[in-house]
Amino acid sequence: MNRLAAIVATAVVAGGAFAQAAGTDPLAGLRGPTPIEQESRPAPLPKPVNDDVRRARSYPAQPPVIPHQIDNYQLDLRFNKCMDCHGRSRTQESQAPMVSVTHYQDRDGNIRQEISPRRYFCTACHVPQNDARLPVKNTFQDFYEVRPQPLATPARGSRK
Ligand code: HEC
Ligand code: HEC
Repeated sequence: MNRLAAIVATAVVAGGAFAQAAGTDPLAGLRGPTPIEQESRPAPLPKPVNDDVRRARSYPAQPPVIPHQIDNYQLDLRFNKCMDCHGRSRTQESQAPMVSVTHYQDRDGNIRQEISPRRYFCTACHVPQNDARLPVKNTFQDFYEVRPQPLATPARGSRK
């Protein structure tokens, strides 16, 4: 098998796996039906979600996702725009939820006056959303949707 054939074979296998997940043409992939030697036309950029509706969390310790646009909010060594609204002393004016107390704790558990350096770069954990089409179906099930499985009873005499 020459190298090109090997690449094509790999692409077909990978494409097949993807198609199984997405239920589309096995050879289309993310770039669509454009032939391999042509450049595909990229899809338009998805729109950021900016509806201000706070989303349910998938598990208790999930960092909530951001329900508003954050374009051009400065977040660097000099300035943290997020804390302009989410900081303890700013929430009355902004009506934004305060960053929780964990954001003021240092690594020894002491609660500090200023945002903890561990929590300074908000977007390491909190992400804005957009209306992109999911390339692969998400099968995540919330804790409450998962039906408890009956406990497996060991067969008689199987215990040592
Ligand atoms: C102009 C004020 C303002 C700024 C700046 C701002 N936010 Fe917000 N944020 C809000 C308000 C108000 C809400 C409540 C929901 C809403 O109205 O969008 C919110 C909601 C959130 C939530 C959802 C909280 C929850 O419990 O669901 C997160 C996470 C968040 N913001 C993160 C950020 C991050 C990260 C930045 C910086 C990149 C930022 N915000 C900048 C005002 C602001
Ligand atoms: C290391 C990850 C991490 C970073 C960095 C971080 N957060 Fe969070 N954030 C979380 C987690 C986890 C939660 C939920 C549990 C908790 O409150 O600790 C949360 C909760 C929140 C909430 C909801 C609070 C509530 O009581 O409902 C807001 C608002 C928020 N973060 C904003 C921010 C902002 C603004 C920044 C940047 C200044 C930031 N976070 C940085 C992980 C992080």
